[in-house]
Amino acid sequence: MDKLVIEGGKPLSGSIVIQGAKNAALPILAASMLVEGIVTIDQVPKLLDIDVMLNILRELGCRAEHEDETVTLDTSSLHSSHIPEALMRQMRSSIFLMGPLLARFGEVTIYQPGGCAIGERKIDLHLSGLRAMGAQIDEEDSRIVCYAKRLKGAEIHLDLPSVGATENIMMAAVLAEGLTTISNAAREPEIQDLQHFLNSMGAKIYGAGTDTITIEGVEKLTPCRYQVIPDRIVTGTVMVAAAATRGQVTLLNTCPSHLTSLIHVLRRTGVQITVDGDIIKVGTASRPKAVDRIVTSPYPAFPTDLQSQVMVLLALADGVSVMKETIFEGRFKHVDELSRMGADIRVDLNSAFIRGVSRLYGATVEATDLRAGAALVIAGLAAQGKTIVEQVHHIDRGYDRIETMLGRLGAKITRYSPVPNNQIVP
Ligand code: EPZ
Repeated sequence: MDKLVIEGGKPLSGSIVIQGAKNAALPILAASMLVEGIVTIDQVPKLLDIDVMLNILRELGCRAEHEDETVTLDTSSLHSSHIPEALMRQMRSSIFLMGPLLARFGEVTIYQPGGCAIGERKIDLHLSGLRAMGAQIDEEDSRIVCYAKRLKGAEIHLDLPSVGATENIMMAAVLAEGLTTISNAAREPEIQDLQHFLNSMGAKIYGAGTDTITIEGVEKLTPCRYQVIPDRIVTGTVMVAAAATRGQVTLLNTCPSHLTSLIHVLRRTGVQITVDGDIIKVGTASRPKAVDRIVTSPYPAFPTDLQSQVMVLLALADGVSVMKETIFEGRFKHVDELSRMGADIRVDLNSAFIRGVSRLYGATVEATDLRAGAALVIAGLAAQGKTIVEQVHHIDRGYDRIETMLGRLGAKITRYSPVPNNQIVP
């Protein structure tokens, strides 16, 4: 398993272009299975999660190429809707394929995606939404087999604004007979991007970005070329890294309107932030101030995917901050690792009480999940001395070579990969 060795204490400076959004690209790749022909998607970053999704599509018979951040799919050769369990286990987001494959083939076989480090990750809302549209769903152990000659439009209310369930139901409804409405829908920008993509192929979807989405079923779609939005979580990660190292960074190819909650929090800590079109400038030379209370909630509130990163900044702040995690029940696994670096954080149920310290110290730490790993990299950049981050594959799921990306801003990060006889070389 790769490691990152980080020399801390150096402020980040310079400018960086933000990659395309993983959480927009994954449902859009799945939605491409709704149409027969050549679909081209631009600004798709090279990530482990994208690789897994493309391998699943190839396993189902689709031709898929990924060159220079452009994915070209030929979905005309798609011949199967049985997702292998081994591939499903590699990435739970393969659940996004349920809706499109059911709509295209009338049946789909998947496997319970299972939980992960951050929580149980249930899929009951996905299944109940498809049942409401007439799907027959048989669950045998971990295997789930769905049938539907043709899905029918329905009125669906989500008990909670699940991003994945909203997207799966949207995709299933595109070719259904009649009208589908989703109330209490998730409002994330990635859902708006999915609506734009599907409508550019002839779908009739309205309301993404609000809590009620309407989908008029159509007979068929027409292939298109599409560019996904910039990644708001990668943008936020770099912004926090700039603040935690007391640097001056310009971020290009961003969507500032997708980050209003983070910008508000960072300004409360005293970080200077300016926005000009798709450019965000972040700068600070002083110790951050504590923020008395931050609560993760569905978009447009403060995103759970930036909780661990902001916690690093607050661990260095002057005063006590409280972070409450309301989305995932296991998303504080980075706290133990930060404590090994000198952070003073106490967890009580789903709240973390963070007493800022004047500095963190380098240590050997382990990434437990994607965003926790990114937070440990930020901590290593801000800490005094050397930090080794292990289990880096978690980070590679969502960041395209994080060491290269941050290296462009002056970060001293070296990746070490084990070779067969267990030596490690840069
Ligand atoms: C998406 O996951 C994102 N992943 C996550 O980003 C993100 O953290 C999450 O939305 C919340 O914003 C992708 O888009 C690929 P949910 P998803 O369904 O769809 C519960 C990252 O770091 N729930 O909104 O799985 C669930 O257990 C990843 O990039 C049910 O109870 O999130 C969780 O507690 C991590 N039943 C909560 O809802 C269901 O049927 C939110 O889940 C579905 C979800």
